Amino acid sequence: MINFPTRLYCHPVTIEKHKAAEFVPAYPEPLQRDPNLVQMIVGARRNLIAVWPATSYRAGIDSFRVLRRQIVFVNSPEHIRYVVVTRHDNFERKSPQMRRALETLLGDGLFISEGETWKKRRPLVADIVHKRRLLEFGQTMEDAALAVAAEWAGLPAGAEIELTEEMGRLTATIISRAVFGNNIARDAAQQVIDGFSAYQHHADSFNLGYFLGADEGWPAFGGKRRRRAVAMVHGVVENVINAHLAGEGDAGSMVDLLIRRNQKSGGEPLDVTALRNEAATIFMAGHETTATTLSWAWYLLANAPWVRQSIHDEIAAACGDRPPTLADLPQLRWCRAVIQETLRLYPPVPLLPRQAREADRIGHIDVEKSALVMIAPWLLHRSPDLWDKPNHFLPERFLSGARIDPFAYIPFAVGPRICPGMNFGLDEATLCLAILAQRFEVLPREGYKVEPVCRLTLRPKGGLPARVVARAPQQAIRRDD
Ligand code: HEM
Repeated sequence: MINFPTRLYCHPVTIEKHKAAEFVPAYPEPLQRDPNLVQMIVGARRNLIAVWPATSYRAGIDSFRVLRRQIVFVNSPEHIRYVVVTRHDNFERKSPQMRRALETLLGDGLFISEGETWKKRRPLVADIVHKRRLLEFGQTMEDAALAVAAEWAGLPAGAEIELTEEMGRLTATIISRAVFGNNIARDAAQQVIDGFSAYQHHADSFNLGYFLGADEGWPAFGGKRRRRAVAMVHGVVENVINAHLAGEGDAGSMVDLLIRRNQKSGGEPLDVTALRNEAATIFMAGHETTATTLSWAWYLLANAPWVRQSIHDEIAAACGDRPPTLADLPQLRWCRAVIQETLRLYPPVPLLPRQAREADRIGHIDVEKSALVMIAPWLLHRSPDLWDKPNHFLPERFLSGARIDPFAYIPFAVGPRICPGMNFGLDEATLCLAILAQRFEVLPREGYKVEPVCRLTLRPKGGLPARVVARAPQQAIRRDD
């Protein structure tokens, strides 16, 4: 399938189309033909979503080699079910790239753990981020979004903000208060945020050793800056845990729940390092994912005034001019559909790489032991075999009542390793969008070219510069009053 190198990597064109009441948001044009090995490797390091020919988007399975490693792409609901449910035990392992890239920071935290450790910890973590706990964290979400609204209201006319930064700050505030407690010092929370972002910046998601035949990949040594970032995050999180263990933490924080639930479980208690790894994992898993979802949602809404009108009408009907709350979410169906469609078009985790524990057979493909088995929400969500107008922004598809196949729409993954924070993330994104959209129009910088790029998450390259304009008060008031 991969041709012999003929020309070096050439950056694909980004497509974006506007028509009356139709918007096709930015995506890299699929390659005209299969990339050669050099193009594949160079392209993958630059932007993992831009190295696929049109055929990769079709539903099916494909297998090819990169150096000494077999790679199997699974892009059909039926075969995804086989991998993540039927043969979960064989395919639950994350790829060596992912494990190596994150292990220094997260240790044996849930996101990269497997086997007995994962089985033991999953119920513990799933319970503390479960949807029935949402009420406890709803107020934190509302307060943080309203604080951003207050800041935006105070901006000088015409001032530009950068949306990915703004949304990153918002979701970091929410998740750090939820995980560590409302009384975490501002500078301590900031150290965790800075530490994670420095770590990500210096993490390499490509592990050459794995492709050269080392089944466990090569350790990622990182540099001084990465080690400093890890020490900073670990230091703050351990302090928070020790404070909770000494009875000085915020009762009701996720760390508090983790400790209490763990003490009740009757098994061998988790030590400070294990508690730190789980707390850091929840912070990481719940921060940037929700932030990028919100950033993409603003970009989509800014280019689809007809959708904006629907959400404004809906918020006005449900809330009048008071701010939306968690209790309003059942009435905010358009807002929810915008978030769901955003997650289809720009899944924050666009690739779900797994490693085959043993040889297997997926459909007609023989899978080697230790092969890389890749499920790509990016490809699946844009498959013309599974979606009508796959590249269009059409939130209505989530309102029509038509059944969405849970193995064709997987922004939160699917099967036993599905994101345990799914409802937390969905409610958080919907609520923050509703609170801010009620008060502001977000206008991206004129002429700015948006380009989606994938490193650890799927982000707009260079961010999203925009201006925010307060909506007139009467625009936020119920139309039929
Ligand atoms: C829009 C927001 C979110 C998205 C799109 C998202 C997506 C995902 C995906 C795709 C995975 C599986 C990754 C894989 O299998 O390779 C995952 C795992 C996970 N997520 Fe989320 N997530 C979101 C928000 C959250 C939040 C808010 C939390 C916690 C409060 C959270 C906690 C976790 C944890 C702990 C895991 C690891 C689960 C395991 O391996 O068993 N996520 N998430």
